[in-house]
Amino acid sequence: MSLARVVVTRPLPEPALEVLRSGGAEVVVGGDVAGADAVVTTLLDRVDEAFLDAAGDGLRVVANVAVGYDNVDVPACAARDVAVTNTPDVLTDATADLALALILAVTRRMGEGERRIRSGVPWAWAMDFMLGRGLQGRTLGVVGYGAIGRAVAGRARAFGMEVVYTRRSGDGVPLEELLARAHVVSLHVPLSDATRHLIDADALAAMRPDAYLVNTARGPVVDEAALAVALRDGVIAGAGLDVYEDEPAVHPELLELENVVLVPHLGSATIETRTAMAELAARNALAVLAGDPPLTPVAT
Ligand code: DGY
Repeated sequence: MSLARVVVTRPLPEPALEVLRSGGAEVVVGGDVAGADAVVTTLLDRVDEAFLDAAGDGLRVVANVAVGYDNVDVPACAARDVAVTNTPDVLTDATADLALALILAVTRRMGEGERRIRSGVPWAWAMDFMLGRGLQGRTLGVVGYGAIGRAVAGRARAFGMEVVYTRRSGDGVPLEELLARAHVVSLHVPLSDATRHLIDADALAAMRPDAYLVNTARGPVVDEAALAVALRDGVIAGAGLDVYEDEPAVHPELLELENVVLVPHLGSATIETRTAMAELAARNALAVLAGDPPLTPVAT
């Protein structure tokens, strides 16, 4: 019997490749997807009809190495009986940590301070030098109260913040109320038609002028051009961004602003987390190939 062919679209941590090999798969890294029984993809792969055509009829599973799967046309996969899996939970802490890091970086002006020192412009301690804002007693608004949103909320409470949140179903406050109340708004919704440009010029205008926006979810949840205007005109106080509308491009006006901290999609970027994500994707692929239910299927 021939080995199942698993095409891994981009290099993965070695332990994940080992999971696949020891599960009896023939592993092709970075190869042509034609003839694949399983593909292990990342958010850089657009898994659409053309991708599925290229893979061919033997494809049984798309194992995406991310919790988000807006890069995958899930209905198209379902129509071909191809399972889709993602990697929830294993990246919750790393992403929540990064959200907190951005909250601290923007409220305490760390990017600006670093740039100042590196620029060689003289500086000296003074009572009123580069004052930021504290978090204690202030309100965090968590937009999307899934695992990552809740993990950010827990960290924020440890910093003395009050938390309000929105969530698709159940309790929480309406988005308008959250935007009006929060001193920091942190985004944790998946990208969908319903959340694209959720934070647009109107939403930014509904925020407090002393509020900060943090996005570790997906870039297109925020209208980046509107955000640049809001930051420039003082509609809000600042922003911390990990994700961008048109990655890896960043809106040029954001690059000119001091009150925004910009990092290059690092939410899950720790050695431990990326390894766990890749291993989970590998296990999902093997499960489907073995005829078992995937560990973390995407709902279709
Ligand atoms: C995810 O898992 O969706 C992250 O954005 C990947 O880094």
